Amino acid sequence: MNDAAQPSLWVLIPAAGLGRRMGTALPKQFLRLGSRTVLEHTLSIFLEDPAIRGVVLVLGVGGDVPSVGTERDRGRLFEVPGGAERADSVRNGLEFLARRGSPQDWVLVHDAARPCLPPEDLERLIRTLMKDPVGGILAAPSTDTLKLSDEEGRVQETLDRDRVWRALTPQMFRLGLLREALNAARVAGVSVTDEASAMERQGFRPRLVEGSPMNIKITRPEDLDAARVYLQKQNRLGES
Ligand code: CTP
Ligand code: MG
Repeated sequence: MNDAAQPSLWVLIPAAGLGRRMGTALPKQFLRLGSRTVLEHTLSIFLEDPAIRGVVLVLGVGGDVPSVGTERDRGRLFEVPGGAERADSVRNGLEFLARRGSPQDWVLVHDAARPCLPPEDLERLIRTLMKDPVGGILAAPSTDTLKLSDEEGRVQETLDRDRVWRALTPQMFRLGLLREALNAARVAGVSVTDEASAMERQGFRPRLVEGSPMNIKITRPEDLDAARVYLQKQNRLGES
């Protein structure tokens, strides 16, 4: 058991999506980027960090799921079946962690489809939030001017760009509170696309920790080229 002063750090990687917008037969997390698959790139960022106690990988059921992780990772890498929506996959992972960790432990939820997370951003997120009562997320300041539309597709309002951020992952929250927040959203029938919005519904105000815009979520085919460039920049692409 961990005491409250020394919470463990767990990582939860939702990787059970079908990648419909990508349009490839093989879900995008299993596509190759240089020497490794997208998912293997993502996993390695966390498995190389000795501060991480364990990584819960949430995988789709049915279909061919290529195996990931090496012999050395056994004991720190756990596989859990996914759900219909991203939030369902995350909840499955949290239920697994609830049997292993304490409610005060930190969980970092990170999309499998974000292989370009710079390790220094991960370190900054952890360092900034370790003593925070709520937790928070990596986010990038918006570079575009953003418009809020009305029902007719006309501009209702121009948002103050200095205060607009794009939510990235990891999103880091306490295991107990995050579990409650996602369960509450499900009971209320509210679909949440990230962990922070579930926490916000509960009245919390997650901290924004600035992260690199290189930390893209591979969504459409052209994103693969960008991801290749960003991994190369970090010397993490490897040979193809
Ligand atoms: N994800 C998941 N379980 C789901 C849906 C998504 O674990 N039921 C994961 C994806 O594998 C991905 C992350 O959540 O790593 C972010 O979701 P997204 O980028 O939307 O991926 P997909 O849902 O796979 O793609 P699409 O929406 O285009 O189908
Ligand atoms: Mg999706």
